[in-house]
Amino acid sequence: MEIDRKRTTSAVNGKFWGSAAVDWAAIQEKTCRPVYTAAFDRVGLKAGIDYLDAGCGAGLAAQLAFERGARVSGLDAAENLLAIARERVPTGVFHVGELECLPFPDGSFDLVTGFNSFQYAASPAGALAEAKRVARPGSHVVVMTWGTPEGMEAASLVGSLRPLLPPPPAGAPGPFALSDETALRGFALAVALEPLEVFDVDSPWQYVDLTTALRGLRSSGVAARAIENSSAEAVDEAHAKVLTSFRQSDGSYRIGATFRCLVARA
Ligand SMILES: C[S@@+](CC[C@H](N)C(=O)[O-])C[C@H]1O[C@@H](n2cnc3c(N)ncnc32)[C@H](O)[C@@H]1O
Repeated sequence: MEIDRKRTTSAVNGKFWGSAAVDWAAIQEKTCRPVYTAAFDRVGLKAGIDYLDAGCGAGLAAQLAFERGARVSGLDAAENLLAIARERVPTGVFHVGELECLPFPDGSFDLVTGFNSFQYAASPAGALAEAKRVARPGSHVVVMTWGTPEGMEAASLVGSLRPLLPPPPAGAPGPFALSDETALRGFALAVALEPLEVFDVDSPWQYVDLTTALRGLRSSGVAARAIENSSAEAVDEAHAKVLTSFRQSDGSYRIGATFRCLVARA
């Protein structure tokens, strides 16, 4: 598929998401581990399948699928994250690339997932259409996004960075754009995927102490962009202020987070 590379987000997103790859993999990524497990249970991931994680980051989901016997492929914009994914799954095939232009022939995979990834493409619908194209007809495509605002205390942490970020482009969709069930099903229908079910998974963000929490939160691409636009100190200060409300009596932190998954048929 030919795309206008100037319109895509992979170059800029790869730089930001890869800027603190080791902390992302060690701390922040695992906050979504229960979601990956629930999604694989739901689609009945079987040994021997060909699996693609589109926007695989440091490859934790790929590793879990590999441990269940899948043949794993992954694609992400951030080379630094992919280096960790390759260490975790040495037999995996990992590409640096663009979600809107997947380097695979039509019908290559038995399962394609996008865990919090399609929404970062310049055209999320273009990215999902590519996921559908490379999925075998009748196979599953899974989209994970943020849950609804009521279950998403973690949104206050991301929201605290808003004053430190460059203004979003006019009309840019917010982080909850796909959280509404009808919108999420419509997202699939628009690229001729058949929505099968939508389910929510509680996956609270937990950190043993403040230092770990700040390192984990500072490792996201959104935080990296805020750091470039302001400073690491300003980002830590914004996070620390919000974290106060989530401090537990033992000094750890627990922030509620619910993610929403759509299972669709290609
Ligand atoms: C929120 S992270 C999720 C990573 C991983 N799926 C996880 O659950 O940990 C979003 C990922 O999408 C990748 N990404 C963003 N825009 C992209 C694009 N246009 N093409 C390829 N990857 C992209 C980023 O590099 C980042 O790894």
